[in-house]
Amino acid sequence: MTASTPMQKVASLAGLRSGVPTRVQAGETAILLIRDDDGVRAFGADCPHAGAPLDEGAICHGRLVCPWHKATFDIRNGALLEPPALQGLPRYSVEVEGDDVLVSATADDPLPAAQVDGENSRKNQTFAIVGGGAAGAAACASLREFGFAGRLVLIDAETDVPYDRTALSKFVPAGELKPDDVYPLLPDDFFGTHHVECLRGQVMKLDAHAREITIDGAQTLRYDAALVAPGSVPKAPNIRGLDDPAVRERTVMLRNLDDARRLDGLADKGGHAVVIGSSFIGLEVASALRNRKLQVTVVAPESTPFAAQFGDAIGAHFQRLHEQNGTTFRLDTQVEAIDAAGAQLSVHLQGRETLKCDFVVIGTGVQPTAEFLKGVDRNDDGGVDVDESMRVADALYAAGDIAAARFGPGAQRIRIEHWRVAQQQARAAARAMLGLKAAQAAVPFFWTYHYDKQFDYVGHVRAGEWDQQLTVGSLDNDDFVTLFARNGQVLAVLACNRERAVAVLAEAMRETLSVDAAKNLIDDAQRDDAKRDDG
Ligand SMILES: Cc1cc2nc3c(=O)[nH]c(=O)nc-3n(C[C@H](O)[C@H](O)[C@H](O)COP(=O)(O)OP(=O)(O)OC[C@H]3O[C@@H](n4cnc5c(N)ncnc54)[C@H](O)[C@@H]3O)c2cc1C
Ligand code: FES
Repeated sequence: MTASTPMQKVASLAGLRSGVPTRVQAGETAILLIRDDDGVRAFGADCPHAGAPLDEGAICHGRLVCPWHKATFDIRNGALLEPPALQGLPRYSVEVEGDDVLVSATADDPLPAAQVDGENSRKNQTFAIVGGGAAGAAACASLREFGFAGRLVLIDAETDVPYDRTALSKFVPAGELKPDDVYPLLPDDFFGTHHVECLRGQVMKLDAHAREITIDGAQTLRYDAALVAPGSVPKAPNIRGLDDPAVRERTVMLRNLDDARRLDGLADKGGHAVVIGSSFIGLEVASALRNRKLQVTVVAPESTPFAAQFGDAIGAHFQRLHEQNGTTFRLDTQVEAIDAAGAQLSVHLQGRETLKCDFVVIGTGVQPTAEFLKGVDRNDDGGVDVDESMRVADALYAAGDIAAARFGPGAQRIRIEHWRVAQQQARAAARAMLGLKAAQAAVPFFWTYHYDKQFDYVGHVRAGEWDQQLTVGSLDNDDFVTLFARNGQVLAVLACNRERAVAVLAEAMRETLSVDAAKNLIDDAQRDDAKRDDG
C-alpha cells in the first residue's frame, strides 16, 4: 500500500473541458486530469515511454493516445492498451468538492496483474522468449501484466538490458545522447520484481517438435510455450573491398548498441561520411551526422528517396529537406568498390566518380534472422508466417521483424519492420500464449526523424497501390497530413507537426475510414489545437 499525501486543490471543475486532457501541478508532481460523464480522473502527465506531454494527445472512444508514438491508455484506469509504452499510467486519487478538484500527489498502488483463472495463469509452466528487443521486452511485460504466474525466461545475445533501438540512428549519431545513456525499455528493477530470468547467449537451435532451445551450443531449455523475436540483421550489399579489415574498421552497419558506439566514435573525429542507401536508417543517420556538422554524402540507386513508400512528390520533399540542411546526394548510382587509402576511404561509384571519406555507414535494408528455428517452414526472405494470434506452430509464436502477418482480413501476409508493430504483435502473442481472447487488431504505425522534425506514418501501402493522394496543410512548412487512399478509403497517412490529428486518425483507421471522414477529423483536430492555443 502507498501512503497517500493530503489532497490539494489543482483545478476548478468549471475549467475542465469534457474529453480534453488537462495538465496541472500538484506540488512537484505533474498530473493529467481527464473529465468525462463519469467524473474526473487523475494520472501521470508524461508518457511512460519517452515522456511525451499527454495533454497534447487525443481522447478517442475512451482511449488516451500519446502524441509522440501513439501509446494508448484506458481513460477509466490508466491501463496500457497499446505500446510502445510497456506500462500503464500512474494513478492519483481525486475528489471534487463543489467547484474544486483535489488530488493526492502520491500515486495509488499500480493496477494488479489481470486476474486470470488458475489454468490461464499457467503457474507450473515455462515460457521462453527468444530476443530481448522491441517485441521480446514487450512480451515479458505483457505476460506478467496479463497474469502469467509461471517461469519466464528471456534469452538475448546482447549484453545490454533491452533498450530503445530507435535512438541509435537519431539522437546517438547526432551527438545528443551517449550510447550508454540510451533509454532502457523497462525500469531497472522490472526483471527482478517480476521474476524474469535473463539468459545472455545466442540461441543456436529451437526445436519446435521437441520444444527445446539450445543456447550457445551448450545449455538447453525446455519450454511449454515460446515466442521468437530475434529481429533482423543488416543486409550487406555486394561491394568489392568490404571484406578488407581496413575498410571494415571504418564501416558501420547499424543495428545494435555496439554498432552505435562505433559510429559515435567515428563521428567524434568529424570529417566526411558516405551513407550508402537512402533507407529510413540511412537518411536518419545522414540528418544526425549533419547535426554534428559532418560533411555527408548519400549514395543510392533510387532516383528519389522514399518514392516507393510515399510517392515521388513527397520523396522529393524529403530530398529537398536534406539538401537544405547540407546533405549531398548521388542518386541513380551504386557503390562498386571501397578501398582504404591511407587515413581515408575511397568509395568508387558506378560511372567512375570516387568519393574520399573518413567513414561509411551502410543502410541498405535488413533481413530476418531466424536460422536457428528447426521444424518450422521459413519463407524465402527468412521470415515465418504467423496466424492472427501470432502462432507459428504448436506452442510456438513469433513477433516483430521476422513475423509475416496479415494486417486485415484476407490481406496478404507481410513483414512490417516497425517498432510499435513488433510490440503490438508481442502483446497479441502474449494473450494467445495464455489462452486469452484476442484484442482488437491494431493499425501499423511508425515514426521517422529528420532535422528535428518527426514524421508519423499510420497504415501501410506502397506506391502504385493508391489511386488518390491528398495533402491537407503545407509540405513546404512541414505542417501537413497526407492521405493515401484507394476507392475513397484511406489506406495510410503521413504527417508532420500534426500529432493530435494523427492520434485521432490512428484510432479511426481501426475501422474503414473514408477520405471525407478523415478530412473532417483533421479539421476537427486543427480546430481543437487552435482552441487549446487560445487557452
Ligand atoms: C537504428 C534503428 C533505428 C530504427 N528506428 C525506428 C523508428 O524510428 N521507428 C520504427 O518504427 N522502427 C524503427 N526501427 C525498426 C525497429 O527497431 C524494428 O522493427 C524492431 O526493433 C523489431 O523488433 P524485434 O523485437 O523484432 O527485433 P529487435 O528489436 O531487433 O530485437 C531482437 C533481439 O533479439 C536478439 N537476437 C537475435 N538473434 C538471437 C539469437 N539467435 N539468440 C538470442 N538473441 C538473439 C538481438 O540481439 C536483439 O536484441 C529502427 C531500427 C534500427 C536498427
Ligand atoms: S512518448 Fe508516448 S508513446 Fe512514445
